[in-house]
Amino acid sequence: MFVLGIETSCDETSAAVVRDGKVICSCKTVSSLKFHKKYKGIVPEIASRMQLETISQVADSAIKDSSVGYKDIGLIGVTDRPGLLGSLLVGVSFAKALSFSLGKPLLGVNHLHSHIFSAFLGKKIKFPFVALIVSGGHTSLFYVRDFSKIEPLGQTQDDACGEAFDKVAKILSLGYPGGPHIERMARKGNVKKYKFSCSNTIQPLNFSFSGIKTAVMYTARNKSLSFKEKQDICASFQESVIKVLIKKSFLACSIKKTNDLIIGGGVAANKRLREEFYSEAKVQRISVNFAPLAYCIDNAAMVAGLGYWLYKNGSRSGLNLSARPD
Ligand code: KG4
Ligand code: ZN
Repeated sequence: MFVLGIETSCDETSAAVVRDGKVICSCKTVSSLKFHKKYKGIVPEIASRMQLETISQVADSAIKDSSVGYKDIGLIGVTDRPGLLGSLLVGVSFAKALSFSLGKPLLGVNHLHSHIFSAFLGKKIKFPFVALIVSGGHTSLFYVRDFSKIEPLGQTQDDACGEAFDKVAKILSLGYPGGPHIERMARKGNVKKYKFSCSNTIQPLNFSFSGIKTAVMYTARNKSLSFKEKQDICASFQESVIKVLIKKSFLACSIKKTNDLIIGGGVAANKRLREEFYSEAKVQRISVNFAPLAYCIDNAAMVAGLGYWLYKNGSRSGLNLSARPD
């Protein structure tokens, strides 16, 4: 079955055609990032305006690239939660209109769950497992028995992990989105130069990133930092964040007595994070699977893939489907 996936939860407009939840026939993603850059963060009104202007071309282009037609699509899967309300509304309204006009079934898909599914786009994965999702809007640990039984284990109490990368990059005037800039700067930095650490949380599987961001802010405040100092701050910050992600993910595996861990979301594109997870996994004899690099950031292939899985297992949505920001 060919599934058309639609993803518009944040600043991307993405459409993909995926066969049987596995084979990506096409995936087209357009980002409005360059229009947000000067504000050093996403402006929701700009994001939804751009999505409104591009959604039908992006969907047409995904269909054209896939070498199947709209008539061959068996299901339309769309991100309906969580995300920016205006952005979600564009995708959901478009998917509903397509579903009605083509007479094809419709299914709303949870954005975080689709980030978990993105690891399945790379290889065959067995249930159950622990999943860590680290993105610009979320940092969450889940225990996944299957995609209809996802148990939240912990989440951030304040800033999301990617948001902390973005804010630290803003403090250091490195550009937006911050993650790739910090990763690049950290490569030549000294991880031991600054003693940054992530705050403890009462519930051991929760996260907190606002304290470390503030610590960086105080270190940088009223100073004209050299390039080398910025490199050291980036390396020390990144190392502490990776350390806490590793500690809590492996703790979750031990609590849930599983040896399988999946990692997805934009921050999972970080190479240093990948290396450190792999090396700790060897020590702890845990099997770690990352989402393929190209599908870490928001994309519609993961939405189509998860849509297929849920549809096969009985999930359905009606034309009363609505966007839910939380
Ligand atoms: O999953 P995503 O595309 O969007 C959300 O659902 O939020 O994640 C975007 C986030 C941004 O905060 C960005 O700075 C971060 O992922 N990111 C990275 C890297 N690439 C993207 N963070 C650290 N290292 C990277 N290489
Ligand atoms: Zn995302």
